[in-house]
Amino acid sequence: MINLKNVTKQYPGNIVALRNVTLQIAPGEFVSVVGQSGAGKSTIVRLLMAEEPASRGRIVVGGWDITDIRLREVPVLRRQIGVVFQDYKLLPKKTVFENVAFALEVCGESRQKIRTIVPQLLKIVGLEDRHKRFPDQLSGGEQQRVSIARALVHRPKLLLADEPTGNLDSLNAREIIDLLLKINELGTTVMLVTHNRDIVNSLKRRVITIERGEIVSDQPVGRYIL
Ligand SMILES: Nc1ncnc2c1ncn2[C@@H]1O[C@H](COP(=O)(O)OP(=O)(O)OP(=O)(O)O)[C@@H](O)[C@H]1O
Ligand SMILES: [Mg+2]
Repeated sequence: MINLKNVTKQYPGNIVALRNVTLQIAPGEFVSVVGQSGAGKSTIVRLLMAEEPASRGRIVVGGWDITDIRLREVPVLRRQIGVVFQDYKLLPKKTVFENVAFALEVCGESRQKIRTIVPQLLKIVGLEDRHKRFPDQLSGGEQQRVSIARALVHRPKLLLADEPTGNLDSLNAREIIDLLLKINELGTTVMLVTHNRDIVNSLKRRVITIERGEIVSDQPVGRYIL
């Protein structure tokens, strides 16, 4: 599902965010990526969603070599990857339903399809009864669920979650992780970037540790070792 080969990302000013990273993630995996602030975790996410190009190396996502992806192809890629961030990035003047629906509207999907898909997604994330609320009428955990529902509108094969529990208390964080596990069980490959030691250790899944732009550990049933 993900294949990075000797990927280096250098920012202007000689900042090396990733140094010669080689990494493979198979379809269906649930992988945590951990590492200290500035280690390069979000850089991996940005490269995978083609927000920025790599400086060197090759990047393949879902069988598609996106190393030299053209600008006009980026939206096609984005539809195949769901992304979730620490801040939920919801539209404040739209309801829960409308926030999820909007992601389909901008792709020109029919009303009929939107009316069918959105309730299904809200059910998956457990928010059927909140569909008329606005973001400021929801808890942080609920807002993150909306953003996860939105990330799933195109039924992506890959979900990238960059610190999705960063703004949540431990109970809400746990619920979001359980939701990601459920989505993984439904067949989506999940890459979870997190600082949360308790969560990583309880998952008993693959853990990749990054330090100063390099993978220093990759354990099939890993622990948070920093
Ligand atoms: N646009 C940019 N220009 C210059 N340097 C950048 C840019 N984006 C990131 N960096 C640098 O690249 C390195 C890796 O950043 P990255 O955002 O990947 O870290 P991270 O592991 O996600 O950290 P955090 O846990 O704080 O989110 C850092 O040193 C950062 O300062
Ligand atoms: Mg980051």
